[in-house]
Amino acid sequence: MAHLVVTGAAGFIGSNFVHWLCSEHPDREVVVVDKLTYAGNLGNLEPIKDRIRFVRADIADAEAMAEVLRGADGIINFAAESHVDRSLEAAAPFLHSNVVGVQVILDLVKELEVPRFLQISTDEVYGSAPEGTRFNEEDRLNPSSPYAASKAAADHLVQAAVHTWTVPALITRASNNYGPYQFPEKLLPLMITNIMEEKPLPVYGDGMQKREWLHVHDHCTAVWAVWQRGEIGRIYNLGTGDEVANLELIKTLLAVMDASEELITFVTDRPGHDRRYALDISRLTTELGWQQQITLEEGLQATIEWYRDNRPWWESIKSGQYREYYERMYGRRGPAQQ
Ligand code: NAD
Ligand code: DAU
Repeated sequence: MAHLVVTGAAGFIGSNFVHWLCSEHPDREVVVVDKLTYAGNLGNLEPIKDRIRFVRADIADAEAMAEVLRGADGIINFAAESHVDRSLEAAAPFLHSNVVGVQVILDLVKELEVPRFLQISTDEVYGSAPEGTRFNEEDRLNPSSPYAASKAAADHLVQAAVHTWTVPALITRASNNYGPYQFPEKLLPLMITNIMEEKPLPVYGDGMQKREWLHVHDHCTAVWAVWQRGEIGRIYNLGTGDEVANLELIKTLLAVMDASEELITFVTDRPGHDRRYALDISRLTTELGWQQQITLEEGLQATIEWYRDNRPWWESIKSGQYREYYERMYGRRGPAQQ
């Protein structure tokens, strides 16, 4: 069987996806491509490093990508700059990875006749959802941050390539993920690890912004449902309807972890902060028969336990030591790269 290329899989969702794939479909040959930015951590792939081939490359590097895509039976692109706050400070890396990188993949998928390409996008492309509404896949894109705008640009490029060249591509747009291996700059791992360290919990603005939470394991099964049964050219929203205000979520964590609400610290709001994300996922559930397996309550409990059991993983990231450690252990170019 030909190999499947999974990009960005040294990051949070991509690494969970490759773990899931190796355990559920052990026959699949997997090539992981990752540039190893600050968010890419080879430790995330450590337990399965003998099962995959790792190539350190930038998805915007056409030559390197042509090498891995030749003979592949598909590519799933998780690679991206993913943190909204960073995009407010410097947008250029977001345009490079999230826009130029995706066009490079599209050109190669067309040229090398790769049979299938799944672009992993986000609910943020729709912008903030007014109370009482949920966005479906036909809704207008209205991104609020450079991050969201770069993901929306990529979605348009994918649709243009499908329309013009019948490139065999699909798009998923997921809501906020949480679970193991999430970089501790994102809300949930930051709050969980700060609670463990008895540090303040920075709540942006009034904390009443709402997000829809999807456990990363459920994201993986949804991505696979789209990969196997999704229609070329179609977009699929991936979510749960588990909508919670940030402050409520943080108070839940504090209660479960038996810590004091005095750690809550209100700070200046994120500029342009979207108030609410909410997805209509009926296409995923009715057309593809996908079902959520992990409730928010179960998922939060398991995630807290994971961060409790994996202190060295997040402590080394928070202290900035992990890169030096892996470069020492594997050399500068990653474990399995020639
Ligand atoms: P992450 O920041 O944890 O990981 C991103 C990975 O991509 C890192 O390993 C990084 O090294 C790699 N990367 C970045 N630029 C690259 C490039 N030019 N070439 C090769 N590799 C590159 O991100 P994540 O949270 O795992 O998100 C994965 C994807 O899912 C992204 O496309 C993101 O937009 C999307 N998404 C994320 C969420 C969420 O809640 N985290 C929700 C919906 C969609
Ligand atoms: O909705 C999907 C998106 O979810 C993905 O596309 C992004 O890649 C991912 O980063 C995430 O974006 P958010 O901006 O929603 O996630 P973040 O974890 O940064 O913030 C979640 C909410 O918590 C948001 O309302 C901002 C708030 N927040 C965040 C941090 C880091 C705080 O109040 N304090 C914080 O310290």
